[in-house]
Amino acid sequence: MSLSAILSRIDDQLPNATERLLEFLRIPSISTDPEYSGACQDAADWLVKDLQSIGIDAQKRETPGHPMVVGHVNEGGTGPHLLFYGHYDVQPVDPIELWTNDPFDPRVEDTAKGQVIRGRGTSDDKGQLMTFVEACRAYRDVNGSLPCRITFFFEGEEESGSPSLVPFMEQHADELRADLALICDTGMFQSKTPAIVTMLRGMVTEELTVTGPDMDLHSGFFGGLAINPIRVLSQILADLHDETGRVTLDGFYDGIPDLTPQMRAQWDGLGFDHASFLGDVGLSVPAGEADRMPLEMIWSRPTAEVNGIWGGYTGAGFKTVLPAKASAKVSFRLVEGQIPDRVRDAFRAHAVARLPADCKISFTAHGGSSAGIMRTDDPAFEAARVALSDEWPQEAAYVGCGGSIPIAGHFGTVLGMNAMLIGFGKDDDAIHSPNEKYDMESFHKGTRSWARILDALCQPKD
Ligand code: BES
Ligand code: ZN
Repeated sequence: MSLSAILSRIDDQLPNATERLLEFLRIPSISTDPEYSGACQDAADWLVKDLQSIGIDAQKRETPGHPMVVGHVNEGGTGPHLLFYGHYDVQPVDPIELWTNDPFDPRVEDTAKGQVIRGRGTSDDKGQLMTFVEACRAYRDVNGSLPCRITFFFEGEEESGSPSLVPFMEQHADELRADLALICDTGMFQSKTPAIVTMLRGMVTEELTVTGPDMDLHSGFFGGLAINPIRVLSQILADLHDETGRVTLDGFYDGIPDLTPQMRAQWDGLGFDHASFLGDVGLSVPAGEADRMPLEMIWSRPTAEVNGIWGGYTGAGFKTVLPAKASAKVSFRLVEGQIPDRVRDAFRAHAVARLPADCKISFTAHGGSSAGIMRTDDPAFEAARVALSDEWPQEAAYVGCGGSIPIAGHFGTVLGMNAMLIGFGKDDDAIHSPNEKYDMESFHKGTRSWARILDALCQPKD
């Protein structure tokens, strides 16, 4: 049966596919908050049932954290053994008051830019994950079978650093190993240009607390004589960057390769408009390392960011307190060549070196993963790029991604597999923010794209 029949089936079934997605989105599977662990179970159960409804042998697999969902189907066919990965967990919703609808009562909405599905997890990653599942459903509806052996692997801890992932992959390596992993958790390059991500940044996250006096003090009574932990913490954080935007940690840039001239030329050719990228969020001036081009700053250079900071009195009115402690959450985005534990050690040494008498510091590690670099010489990449370009008005581009998806690197290190990252998120999807949305176009054309890619990867070789 022809690809065009499968694509027509996807078009016809879009209303039903949307209903299924809305049902999935109603499950508040926030992985970082223990209060929602029941919902994470429910989301995994929902996926198992949905996969089973299209003939996939799927199971929920418990872990010390949230469960994995693993499914297998092998109905013959000539193609490679593919593994498809997505995550069913979502980010917390706060600040809840900024949402225009209940984040877990998703809506289809008409906007000036077209129809969108609004709700937590629409773009990251439930809507994206379902593009692949819906493509498989249509493929089977039309052809009676899928064109190759497929393993489905869905995680529920991606948004909280994937603590159970590596042990699970190691324990089930033989079951999970395939010829190629497909990951749908990234975005388009600008709104009509589909993209294959060839590099992802890694991540190190740390929480630190500086303590000083035994109790909160009156800042008039003690101020001037007593050390203030907020002042100490601020100095530690302020010293993370120099005046040119470089991170000051010892050895931070050691081993990082420079962009190859070919890569630089290819990225130059993408015509990235940083003024409009920043303009869309009310900014104008690049704030990274002064001597780097904007795409390098977000794709191939490492960063240090303070993600949260608290201490003292932050309620209504004013309280002249000299606090007993101050805390912050700090994260580093890593690139090729950097080792997460070395960056963590360098950060801790940086903080300890700035600790005055009478102060103590404690650290909590929240996880770390290396950058992921994909091998694009695999012919599947070019086949997928052509298939994607057939679906969208612009040619598909090879791009970098500043975000982190820990599993992308683990496929290589744990299972010896290559991974291909293709997703249909847009820059204005507001992932991790209030009013997250996924364009109906992304959902519809994303599903059609996967059908085309499956078809292209499974063509008999001559
Ligand atoms: N889907 C995102 C990664 C992403 C971000 C892709 C931006 C494309 C553009 C992923 O789910 C995510 O948010 N990852 C976290 C990982 C962290 C919590 C370990 C991230 O990048 O902050
Ligand atoms: Zn994601």
